Amino acid sequence: MSGRGRRPELGGPPELFYDESEARKYMRNSRMIDVQTTMAGRALELLCLPEDQPCYLLDVGCGTGLSGDYLTDEGHCWVGFDISSAMLDAALDREVEGDVFLGDMGQGIPFRPGTFDGCISISALQWLCTANKKSENPVKRLYCFFSSLYSVLARGARAVLQLYPETSEQLELITAQATKAGFTGGVVVDYPNSARAKKFYLCLFSGPSTFLPQGLSDTKAEEAAEEAPVESSFVTGRVPFRMTRRWMVRNTRQWVLQKKARRRRQGREVRPDTQYTGRRRGPHF
Ligand SMILES: C[S@@+](CC[C@H](N)C(=O)[O-])C[C@H]1O[C@@H](n2cnc3c(N)ncnc32)[C@H](O)[C@@H]1O
Repeated sequence: MSGRGRRPELGGPPELFYDESEARKYMRNSRMIDVQTTMAGRALELLCLPEDQPCYLLDVGCGTGLSGDYLTDEGHCWVGFDISSAMLDAALDREVEGDVFLGDMGQGIPFRPGTFDGCISISALQWLCTANKKSENPVKRLYCFFSSLYSVLARGARAVLQLYPETSEQLELITAQATKAGFTGGVVVDYPNSARAKKFYLCLFSGPSTFLPQGLSDTKAEEAAEEAPVESSFVTGRVPFRMTRRWMVRNTRQWVLQKKARRRRQGREVRPDTQYTGRRRGPHF
Protein backbone atom coordinates (compact mmCIF):
# COMPACT_ATOMS: atom_id res chain seq x y z
CA MET A 1 0.00 0.00 0.00
CA SER A 2 2.92 2.31 0.70
CA GLY A 3 4.49 1.88 -2.73
CA ARG A 4 7.86 1.43 -1.04
CA GLY A 5 9.61 -1.90 -1.37
CA ARG A 6 11.57 -1.74 1.86
CA ARG A 7 9.82 -1.32 5.20
CA PRO A 8 12.42 -0.43 7.83
CA GLU A 9 9.88 -0.63 10.67
CA LEU A 10 9.68 -4.41 10.16
CA GLY A 11 13.42 -4.80 10.81
CA GLY A 12 13.65 -3.58 14.42
CA PRO A 13 13.02 -0.55 16.62
CA PRO A 14 13.28 2.98 15.19
CA GLU A 15 16.03 4.06 17.58
CA LEU A 16 18.27 1.36 16.04
CA PHE A 17 17.34 2.05 12.42
CA TYR A 18 17.80 5.82 12.77
CA ASP A 19 21.45 5.64 13.80
CA GLU A 20 24.32 8.02 13.05
CA SER A 21 24.72 6.81 9.49
CA GLU A 22 21.00 7.25 8.74
CA ALA A 23 21.07 10.70 10.36
CA ARG A 24 23.99 11.66 8.10
CA LYS A 25 21.86 10.80 5.06
CA TYR A 26 19.18 13.24 6.23
CA MET A 27 21.80 15.94 6.53
CA ARG A 28 23.63 15.31 3.26
CA ASN A 29 21.36 13.58 0.76
CA SER A 30 19.69 16.21 -1.42
CA ARG A 31 16.79 13.93 -2.33
CA MET A 32 15.99 13.16 1.30
CA ILE A 33 16.16 16.85 2.15
CA ASP A 34 13.77 17.64 -0.72
CA VAL A 35 11.34 14.87 0.25
CA GLN A 36 11.21 15.92 3.92
CA THR A 37 10.80 19.58 2.98
CA THR A 38 8.06 18.91 0.41
CA MET A 39 6.07 16.68 2.77
CA ALA A 40 6.42 19.19 5.61
CA GLY A 41 5.13 21.87 3.22
CA ARG A 42 2.11 19.78 2.29
CA ALA A 43 1.42 18.90 5.95
CA LEU A 44 1.53 22.58 6.87
CA GLU A 45 -0.81 23.40 4.00
CA LEU A 46 -3.27 20.75 5.21
CA LEU A 47 -3.15 22.20 8.75
CA CYS A 48 -5.07 25.21 7.35
CA LEU A 49 -3.65 27.58 9.96
CA PRO A 50 -4.88 31.16 10.13
CA GLU A 51 -3.30 33.41 7.51
CA ASP A 52 -0.01 35.16 8.28
CA GLN A 53 -0.12 34.42 11.99
CA PRO A 54 2.80 32.73 13.74
CA CYS A 55 1.69 29.55 15.50
CA TYR A 56 3.17 27.21 18.09
CA LEU A 57 3.52 23.79 16.45
CA LEU A 58 4.59 20.29 17.42
CA ASP A 59 6.66 18.04 15.12
CA VAL A 60 6.29 14.38 16.17
CA GLY A 61 9.31 12.31 15.11
CA CYS A 62 11.11 15.55 14.23
CA GLY A 63 14.37 13.73 13.42
CA THR A 64 17.09 16.01 12.11
CA GLY A 65 14.73 19.01 11.97
CA LEU A 66 14.40 19.34 8.20
CA SER A 67 10.62 19.38 8.53
CA GLY A 68 10.99 21.83 11.41
CA ASP A 69 13.09 24.12 9.22
CA TYR A 70 10.12 24.45 6.92
CA LEU A 71 7.94 25.51 9.84
CA THR A 72 10.56 28.07 10.85
CA ASP A 73 10.73 29.38 7.29
CA GLU A 74 6.99 29.89 7.30
CA GLY A 75 7.28 32.00 10.45
CA HIS A 76 6.17 29.45 13.08
CA CYS A 77 7.74 28.37 16.36
CA TRP A 78 8.02 24.65 16.94
CA VAL A 79 8.93 21.94 19.40
CA GLY A 80 9.90 18.48 18.21
CA PHE A 81 10.63 15.15 19.77
CA ASP A 82 12.08 11.91 18.51
CA ILE A 83 13.00 8.47 19.79
CA SER A 84 16.42 8.50 18.09
CA SER A 85 19.21 10.36 19.85
CA ALA A 86 21.33 10.17 16.67
CA MET A 87 18.68 12.07 14.68
CA LEU A 88 18.33 14.64 17.47
CA ASP A 89 22.11 15.09 17.67
CA ALA A 90 22.03 15.91 13.96
CA ALA A 91 19.24 18.44 14.59
CA LEU A 92 21.33 20.07 17.33
CA ASP A 93 24.39 20.02 15.08
CA ARG A 94 22.35 21.84 12.44
CA GLU A 95 21.32 24.42 15.05
CA VAL A 96 17.62 24.16 14.28
CA GLU A 97 15.49 26.91 15.70
CA GLY A 98 12.94 24.63 17.36
CA ASP A 99 13.40 23.01 20.78
CA VAL A 100 13.94 19.26 20.52
CA PHE A 101 13.85 16.45 23.07
CA LEU A 102 14.10 12.68 23.28
CA GLY A 103 10.76 10.91 23.61
CA ASP A 104 8.66 7.96 22.48
CA MET A 105 5.32 8.93 20.97
CA GLY A 106 3.89 5.57 22.05
CA GLN A 107 4.25 6.74 25.64
CA GLY A 108 2.34 9.98 25.14
CA ILE A 109 3.27 13.64 24.76
CA PRO A 110 4.42 15.40 27.93
CA PHE A 111 2.83 18.84 27.56
CA ARG A 112 0.00 20.70 29.24
CA PRO A 113 -3.47 20.49 27.69
CA GLY A 114 -4.09 22.95 24.86
CA THR A 115 -0.40 23.86 24.35
CA PHE A 116 -0.15 23.62 20.55
CA ASP A 117 -1.91 25.33 17.64
CA GLY A 118 -1.19 22.36 15.40
CA CYS A 119 0.95 19.28 14.90
CA ILE A 120 2.76 17.74 11.96
CA SER A 121 4.56 14.43 11.65
CA ILE A 122 6.50 13.09 8.67
CA SER A 123 6.90 9.34 8.08
CA ALA A 124 6.89 8.42 11.77
CA LEU A 125 3.42 7.09 12.62
CA GLN A 126 3.75 3.69 10.90
CA TRP A 127 6.52 2.84 13.37
CA LEU A 128 3.89 2.63 16.13
CA CYS A 129 2.17 -0.27 14.40
CA THR A 130 4.98 -2.75 15.02
CA ALA A 131 5.77 -4.38 18.36
CA ASN A 132 9.48 -4.72 19.05
CA LYS A 133 9.15 -6.25 22.51
CA LYS A 134 6.70 -8.73 23.99
CA SER A 135 5.49 -5.99 26.31
CA GLU A 136 4.70 -3.59 23.44
CA ASN A 137 1.09 -3.44 22.30
CA PRO A 138 0.65 -1.37 19.10
CA VAL A 139 -3.06 -0.73 19.72
CA LYS A 140 -2.38 0.60 23.23
CA ARG A 141 0.58 2.66 22.03
CA LEU A 142 -1.48 4.19 19.21
CA TYR A 143 -4.28 5.06 21.62
CA CYS A 144 -1.84 6.52 24.16
CA PHE A 145 -0.28 8.65 21.42
CA PHE A 146 -3.57 9.92 19.97
CA SER A 147 -5.21 10.63 23.33
CA SER A 148 -2.20 12.67 24.51
CA LEU A 149 -2.07 14.42 21.12
CA TYR A 150 -5.75 15.32 21.45
CA SER A 151 -5.05 16.76 24.88
CA VAL A 152 -2.01 18.90 23.95
CA LEU A 153 -3.78 20.52 20.98
CA ALA A 154 -5.80 23.69 21.46
CA ARG A 155 -9.50 23.00 20.87
CA GLY A 156 -10.29 23.08 17.17
CA ALA A 157 -6.62 22.64 16.22
CA ARG A 158 -5.50 20.07 13.65
CA ALA A 159 -2.79 17.47 13.36
CA VAL A 160 -1.53 16.31 9.96
CA LEU A 161 0.50 13.13 10.01
CA GLN A 162 2.08 11.88 6.80
CA LEU A 163 2.57 8.13 6.99
CA TYR A 164 3.35 5.02 4.96
CA PRO A 165 0.66 2.50 5.92
CA GLU A 166 1.58 -1.07 5.08
CA THR A 167 -1.98 -2.22 4.38
CA SER A 168 -5.47 -0.74 4.39
CA GLU A 169 -6.14 -2.73 7.59
CA GLN A 170 -3.23 -0.92 9.26
CA LEU A 171 -4.65 2.43 8.16
CA GLU A 172 -8.02 1.41 9.60
CA LEU A 173 -6.38 0.42 12.88
CA ILE A 174 -4.71 3.83 13.08
CA THR A 175 -7.83 5.83 12.25
CA ALA A 176 -9.90 3.74 14.69
CA GLN A 177 -7.54 4.65 17.56
CA ALA A 178 -7.52 8.31 16.52
CA THR A 179 -11.33 8.34 16.49
CA LYS A 180 -11.45 6.60 19.87
CA ALA A 181 -9.20 9.35 21.25
CA GLY A 182 -11.76 11.97 20.14
CA PHE A 183 -10.48 13.11 16.74
CA THR A 184 -12.54 13.59 13.61
CA GLY A 185 -11.02 14.01 10.16
CA GLY A 186 -9.89 11.78 7.35
CA VAL A 187 -7.10 10.68 5.08
CA VAL A 188 -5.94 12.81 2.15
CA VAL A 189 -4.19 10.81 -0.57
CA ASP A 190 -1.96 12.77 -2.95
CA TYR A 191 -1.09 11.39 -6.38
CA PRO A 192 -3.07 8.18 -5.91
CA ASN A 193 -2.12 6.84 -9.34
CA SER A 194 1.60 6.88 -8.83
CA ALA A 195 3.35 4.16 -6.84
CA ARG A 196 6.25 6.51 -6.16
CA ALA A 197 4.55 9.88 -5.65
CA LYS A 198 1.51 8.58 -3.71
CA LYS A 199 1.39 10.00 -0.19
CA PHE A 200 -1.02 9.52 2.71
CA TYR A 201 -1.79 12.37 5.12
CA LEU A 202 -3.92 11.59 8.15
CA CYS A 203 -5.72 14.87 8.91
CA LEU A 204 -7.11 15.00 12.42
CA PHE A 205 -9.39 17.69 13.87
CA SER A 206 -9.70 18.19 17.60
CA GLY A 207 -13.06 19.90 17.13
CA PRO A 208 -16.10 19.19 15.03
CA SER A 209 -15.25 17.88 11.58
CA THR A 210 -14.39 20.69 9.19
CA PHE A 211 -13.32 21.06 5.58
CA LEU A 212 -11.01 18.27 4.40
CA PRO A 213 -8.96 19.43 1.38
CA GLN A 214 -8.78 17.21 -1.68
CA GLY A 215 -5.75 15.09 -2.47
CA LEU A 216 -3.45 16.34 -5.21
CA SER A 217 -3.78 14.64 -8.54
CA ASP A 218 -1.73 15.50 -11.55
CA THR A 219 -1.19 12.96 -14.30
CA LYS A 220 1.94 14.69 -15.57
CA ALA A 221 3.49 14.93 -12.10
CA GLU A 222 2.63 11.31 -11.40
CA GLU A 223 4.19 10.19 -14.66
CA ALA A 224 7.26 12.31 -13.97
CA ALA A 225 7.61 10.74 -10.53
CA GLU A 226 7.50 7.29 -12.06
CA GLU A 227 10.19 8.18 -14.57
CA ALA A 228 12.38 10.20 -12.20
CA PRO A 229 15.80 8.73 -11.53
CA VAL A 230 16.06 7.35 -7.99
CA GLU A 231 19.66 8.36 -7.43
CA SER A 232 20.38 11.44 -5.38
CA SER A 233 23.39 13.59 -4.82
CA PHE A 234 25.41 13.61 -1.62
CA VAL A 235 27.26 16.65 -0.44
CA THR A 236 30.55 15.99 1.22
CA GLY A 237 30.48 18.44 4.09
CA ARG A 238 27.91 19.46 6.64
CA VAL A 239 25.07 21.30 4.91
CA PRO A 240 24.75 24.76 6.41
CA PHE A 241 21.44 25.33 8.13
CA ARG A 242 20.11 27.87 5.64
CA MET A 243 21.05 25.80 2.59
CA THR A 244 18.89 22.86 3.57
CA ARG A 245 15.89 25.12 3.68
CA ARG A 246 13.40 25.68 0.96
CA TRP A 247 14.89 26.31 -2.39
CA MET A 248 12.27 28.84 -3.35
CA VAL A 249 13.06 32.46 -2.64
CA ARG A 250 10.38 34.38 -0.79
CA ASN A 251 8.43 37.08 -2.64
CA THR A 252 9.51 35.95 -6.11
CA ARG A 253 6.73 35.47 -8.69
CA GLN A 254 7.13 31.68 -8.42
CA TRP A 255 6.81 31.84 -4.63
CA VAL A 256 3.71 34.03 -4.78
CA LEU A 257 2.07 31.80 -7.44
CA GLN A 258 2.74 28.71 -5.35
CA LYS A 259 1.34 30.32 -2.21
CA LYS A 260 -1.82 31.36 -4.10
CA ALA A 261 -2.23 27.86 -5.54
CA ARG A 262 -1.89 26.45 -2.02
CA ARG A 263 -4.61 28.76 -0.73
CA ARG A 264 -6.92 27.80 -3.60
CA ARG A 265 -6.44 24.13 -2.74
CA GLN A 266 -7.41 24.99 0.83
CA GLY A 267 -10.67 26.38 -0.54
CA ARG A 268 -9.75 29.99 0.24
CA GLU A 269 -10.68 33.01 -1.85
CA VAL A 270 -7.68 34.14 -3.88
CA ARG A 271 -7.37 36.92 -6.46
CA PRO A 272 -6.71 35.67 -10.02
CA ASP A 273 -3.11 35.48 -11.24
CA THR A 274 -2.12 38.25 -13.61
CA GLN A 275 1.04 39.50 -15.29
CA TYR A 276 1.53 41.72 -12.21
CA THR A 277 1.42 38.87 -9.70
CA GLY A 278 4.64 38.79 -7.67
CA ARG A 279 6.07 41.78 -9.55
CA ARG A 280 8.48 43.89 -7.55
CA ARG A 281 7.00 47.23 -6.68
CA GLY A 282 8.99 50.41 -6.41
CA PRO A 283 9.35 52.22 -3.10
CA HIS A 284 6.24 53.93 -1.72
CA PHE A 285 6.63 57.60 -0.79
C1 LIG B 1 11.41 9.85 8.31
S1 LIG B 1 12.04 10.30 9.84
C2 LIG B 1 11.50 11.96 10.02
C3 LIG B 1 12.57 12.90 9.69
C4 LIG B 1 12.29 14.32 10.08
N1 LIG B 1 11.04 14.83 9.59
C5 LIG B 1 13.44 15.19 9.65
O1 LIG B 1 13.21 16.31 9.20
O2 LIG B 1 14.61 14.77 9.79
C6 LIG B 1 10.93 9.51 10.99
C7 LIG B 1 11.31 9.79 12.42
O3 LIG B 1 10.35 9.20 13.29
C8 LIG B 1 11.03 8.85 14.47
N2 LIG B 1 10.23 7.90 15.26
C9 LIG B 1 9.88 6.64 14.93
N3 LIG B 1 9.20 6.08 15.94
C10 LIG B 1 9.11 7.01 16.93
C11 LIG B 1 8.53 7.01 18.22
N4 LIG B 1 7.92 5.93 18.71
N5 LIG B 1 8.59 8.14 18.94
C12 LIG B 1 9.23 9.25 18.47
N6 LIG B 1 9.82 9.28 17.26
C13 LIG B 1 9.77 8.19 16.49
C14 LIG B 1 12.33 8.25 13.97
O4 LIG B 1 13.32 8.18 14.95
C15 LIG B 1 12.67 9.19 12.82
O5 LIG B 1 13.55 10.21 13.20
